[in-house]
Amino acid sequence: MANKEEKADEKQSSWKDFFYNPRTGEFIGRTASSWALIFLFYLVFYGFLAGMFTLTMWVMLQTLDEHTPTYRDRVANPGLMIRPRSLEIKYNLSIPQEYSKYVQPLELFLQPYNDSLQEANEACPEGVYFEQDDVEVKKVCQFKRSVLGHCSGLDDFGYSKGQPCILVKMNRVIGLKPQGNPCISCKAKREAPLQMQYFPAEGKLDKSYFPYYGKKLHAQYVQPVVAVKLMLMEEDYNSELTVECKVEGSNLLNSDERDKFLGRVMFRVSVSK
Ligand SMILES: *[C@@H]1O[C@H](CO)[C@@H](O)[C@H](O)[C@H]1NC(C)=O
Ligand SMILES: *[C@@H]1O[C@H](CO)[C@@H](O)[C@H](O)[C@H]1NC(C)=O
Repeated sequence: MANKEEKADEKQSSWKDFFYNPRTGEFIGRTASSWALIFLFYLVFYGFLAGMFTLTMWVMLQTLDEHTPTYRDRVANPGLMIRPRSLEIKYNLSIPQEYSKYVQPLELFLQPYNDSLQEANEACPEGVYFEQDDVEVKKVCQFKRSVLGHCSGLDDFGYSKGQPCILVKMNRVIGLKPQGNPCISCKAKREAPLQMQYFPAEGKLDKSYFPYYGKKLHAQYVQPVVAVKLMLMEEDYNSELTVECKVEGSNLLNSDERDKFLGRVMFRVSVSK
């Protein structure tokens, strides 16, 4: 019994010695000066690494241009996207709560296109690039939402009538000047063609909205959009329809095997009643 207590005592004192040994002045196995040297070593070591990192970073940043990305693959080939953001548009036209999740984002998206706001921008001549390479402050061509006609936000963008509008937009690419007459063209993937209305007419993406000069130089840039109204009929309800929109009439790629969004976008629509 006494033996055991002694042993326990010994153990405790060796633990205490390990933390601080009053005889040698060691703290966790090292003297204060030894610890100080270690800290000094790591301080210098990590200080050196941080300095090296900062220096290389600085050198790299010197090589970058503020306004245009250094590496741009597929420069002239933007992707397409639609609004509402969903690639699966499915609702019952008798239930407003079901389509409000599509109508509200559209309304929000078109806020900056309000005619009153767009009045402040340039009325650019149509059909020619709006080049401003030599101007410090880049101007912006107006795009009024009234151009979108039946898809400009009247009667719930047609969702309540079962003839929904979809907005198609092309991703911004700095410096892009599409040749020809780029336009958005959509097709339903089925035997019988589906009637569609385009706004602006023929789904035109006017040249005056190009080139784009980048977020910094061209902060107020207004992206052109094309609205497509799907003229669904009674017999189209309750079935799923696949629609593909492509940018056509120009040199922009729209049929890349591997990239399903390069110059095109596919979505499904199903309206029930
Ligand atoms: C846009 O116009 C509509 C009516 O035409 C108005 O209700 C709305 O507040 C306007 N939005 C902005 C941001 O001016
Ligand atoms: C759509 O909603 C109406 C009204 O609630 C309902 O009568 C109808 O059955 C719904 N249609 C489908 C396909 O669910």
